[in-house]
Amino acid sequence: MALEYRFATEADLEQIFEIEQSVMPCPWSMKSFQEAFSSDYSIILVAADDYRICGFSVLYITAPEAELPDIVVSKEYQGQGIGRALLEYTISEAKAKKVETIFLEVRVSNAPARGLYDSFGFEEIGTRKYFYSNPVEDAICMRLDAIETL
Ligand SMILES: CC(C)(COP(=O)(O)OP(=O)(O)OC[C@H]1O[C@@H](n2cnc3c(N)ncnc32)[C@H](O)[C@@H]1OP(=O)(O)O)[C@@H](O)C(=O)NCCC(=O)NCCS
Repeated sequence: MALEYRFATEADLEQIFEIEQSVMPCPWSMKSFQEAFSSDYSIILVAADDYRICGFSVLYITAPEAELPDIVVSKEYQGQGIGRALLEYTISEAKAKKVETIFLEVRVSNAPARGLYDSFGFEEIGTRKYFYSNPVEDAICMRLDAIETL
């Protein structure tokens, strides 16, 4: 499947929001996406099949550090390499903006995401007790040395 990987436009926000709602147990509000979209510190990247958004990532950048608070692939497109390609694109955009270290949190039980992060070399640096709700769960905090990646 030949997808396009590009920066999100405002026209993508509705589909991004719908994917978030359908996949995440504690989804971001539309306001959170609008804030991310208009922030000078964030980038939102999408994987798109023509005008259909299949997945997206949100990265907040305060170089030399960045935080990856959200990366999601629509259910029907999961397991086809899109998450990997999106994360690769996200890391390369981060590096282009002088990011050296990327941080993130992930649910302890989220095996697909943990598998993805592990395969990129993200290291566990700690846990945050009861970080998530619905259900309440600990977060694993991870970091990646972006310079040594890709
Ligand atoms: C995590 C997520 C973005 C991965 O996207 P994806 O397109 O399904 O993943 P890919 O097909 O690119 O797979 C990349 C790697 O992820 C891991 N992975 C993907 N699905 C997995 C699964 N069901 N179990 C274990 N590992 C899995 C593997 O390491 C895989 O590499 P491999 O194919 O070489 O084994 C996707 O599952 C998703 O949107 N999950 C819900 C949202 C979410 O939890 N986001 C992360 C928040 S911290």
